[in-house]
Amino acid sequence: MTIRLNYSITAMIVFAVAVASGRNNCFRAVSAFTPTLTTTVRNQHHHSTRTSVATTSIVAPLNWNHHQHHQQRQQQQQQTRQMSTTTSTSTEETTSSPDDEPQEKKKKKPIRPERVLSGVQPTGSLHLGNYLGAIRQWVDFQNEDQFNDDGDVVPVENFFCVVDLHAITMPHDPKDLQESTLSSAALYLAAGIDPTKSKIFVQSHVPAHSELAWLLNCITPMGWLERMIQFKEKAKKQGESVGVGLFSYPILMAADIMLYQSTKVPVGEDQRQHLELTRDIVRRFNDLFCKGNQYKKRCKAAGVPSRPVFVEPDAIILKEGARVMSLTDGSSKMSKSDPSDASRINVLDDPKTIRDKIKRCKTDAIPGIEWDNPDRPEATNLLNIYSAVQPTKRTKEDILNEVGEMTWGEFKPVIADAIVNHLQPIQDRYYEVRNDPDALNEILKQGADAANEVAERTLLNTKVAMGFNIPPPAQPPASK
Ligand code: TYM
Repeated sequence: MTIRLNYSITAMIVFAVAVASGRNNCFRAVSAFTPTLTTTVRNQHHHSTRTSVATTSIVAPLNWNHHQHHQQRQQQQQQTRQMSTTTSTSTEETTSSPDDEPQEKKKKKPIRPERVLSGVQPTGSLHLGNYLGAIRQWVDFQNEDQFNDDGDVVPVENFFCVVDLHAITMPHDPKDLQESTLSSAALYLAAGIDPTKSKIFVQSHVPAHSELAWLLNCITPMGWLERMIQFKEKAKKQGESVGVGLFSYPILMAADIMLYQSTKVPVGEDQRQHLELTRDIVRRFNDLFCKGNQYKKRCKAAGVPSRPVFVEPDAIILKEGARVMSLTDGSSKMSKSDPSDASRINVLDDPKTIRDKIKRCKTDAIPGIEWDNPDRPEATNLLNIYSAVQPTKRTKEDILNEVGEMTWGEFKPVIADAIVNHLQPIQDRYYEVRNDPDALNEILKQGADAANEVAERTLLNTKVAMGFNIPPPAQPPASK
């Protein structure tokens, strides 16, 4: 009795001291003494913590200044990026099961992470079309927060590859392929792709691309490929000798996208049809192989998720810059395959070459420079380029106020200067990166390691869905 009384008095004293010194100590001190009290206090504690978190997230941002708010968003994004790069493998795998969540959280829709994938062929040097239509968009994707419809920041994983397997679908010179592959990767970095935020890798360093392409070749109807405009255009130039690879090339591109469960694919306008084909292949595969009890059984036996293997990607195509036209013909696309180098500005052209190309580029005899006149495609193209290389965003009106009344002779040095100034810092960074091959190769290795991890998993799911025999995982060597 005395002992019990002393015990209670001691507990009350410790409790009182702990209350005076803060709630957490109170919780710890009390829990050391009375299990019943512990439960009650733990519940209260849990409840009050929840309340305070909710209050912080609702009230605090209203009181913060813009800078603090921005910092918080950056930190939040960094955390989600770190989480997604280290743990996620596919859109669904990163989303925890609703059954795991406490009752309260069920109401909120899970945040669906995004995967971005894109690539450029290392054929010759990259030009202004590749940069403005594709690579610059990638940089924006990497650097800007992405939000879903609920206004939540969405975790994004970026994969950018140098698609060297695509580069051999046209006749190529083996002595150039290695250099143009490394040079393209260096340009990604120079243009602003940051390897701590995005994975950069070489397509042929990830064997799953070729393997998935074969599997998809076998389920894609010929008729779908026969409709591809790019094949028709390129095949015309090659006649009888056109390779089978050029014909099935859009399937390799579909494999590139599908291997990463990519949800967003930033590209130029000319790739729209290939993206539509990819979506068709995704639907066809999921319909053919990812339904019914047999599929579920195969997945269970192999220990892989029984959801449909692939997700449908969206093409992300800019309104401006999606189609940069040739300097020698404003009605055809700026392209690496144009035999005339004067038809394009290469990202690595020196200032004199850029000025010469602009000086000689095609114009017309109509006075003034104007936008969107169908009879003046060269004027529209040069104005689009001029607008895209401005240091800060400017409206069309503002630009026309500056150059609309100029003659071609006056406008050409102005646009040439703007292009040179825009490309100069990219070129400077490019030479720094290219002159450090060890660092570049290390970045590509890390990119390939991360890409292989995701790609191998998707390939396994694909093979399970198609009914292949899956070898058991390799056993670690027995210790002696
Ligand atoms: P490629 O190498 O021809 O072009 C790379 C990117 O540059 C864009 N582009 C242009 N954009 C605006 N104006 C132009 N004149 C211009 N020329 C090229 C292209 O639209 C593209 O975004 N098949 C693709 C490469 C690829 C790929 C992928 C892309 C392979 N696998 C997976 C995205 C996802 C190609 O040949 O692009």
